[in-house]
Amino acid sequence: MVIGAAVALVHAVLFVAGFSLVFVLLGAANRDERKFPDPDRFDVERNPPDHVGFGYGIHYCLGAPLARLEGRMALEALLFACPPFTRVREHLPRIATYLVRGPQTLPLRFAIPHPTPMCET
Ligand code: HEM
Repeated sequence: MVIGAAVALVHAVLFVAGFSLVFVLLGAANRDERKFPDPDRFDVERNPPDHVGFGYGIHYCLGAPLARLEGRMALEALLFACPPFTRVREHLPRIATYLVRGPQTLPLRFAIPHPTPMCET
C-alpha cells in the first residue's frame, strides 16, 4: 500500500507520501498491547469488538458471518460429538503469510481408538 496523504504520524513513525511503502500486518495489529491487554495470552473469553481478524473498512471480509458459523459448528462437533482428545505435539508449524496467522495443522489424539468418521483427524 502506498500512502496517499502527504504525511501521517502513526505511533511515532512518520510516513511521507511517495516515499513510504506500508505493509499492513493484521495479525500483528491484533497483538498490539496498546489495544489488547496481554495480547499473547490465549483467552477463549476474549471478545474485543474492534479486532481486525476479518479486516477493516470497505474491504471487511465478505465471508465473516459464514466463517463464524462454520467455526462454531466445527467447534461444537469437536467438543460435544467427539470423544475426549489431546494435542499430539506441543509445538506446531506456523503458517508463513503476512495476512493469516496460526498453526498450519492441529493434530489431535482421541481417547478411544476408533472415533466416529466425523471425528477422524
Ligand atoms: C476464518 C475465516 C476467514 C478469515 C480469518 C478471513 C479474513 C479476511 C480478511 C482479513 C480479509 C481482508 C483482506 C484485506 O483487507 O486485504 C478478508 C477479505 C475477504 N474475505 Fe475473508 N476470511 C475468512 C473467511 C472467508 C470466507 C468463508 C469467505 C467467502 C465465503 C471470505 C471472503 C472474503 C472476501 C470476498 C474478501 C474481500 C473483501 C473485499 O476486498 O472487499 N472470507 N477476509
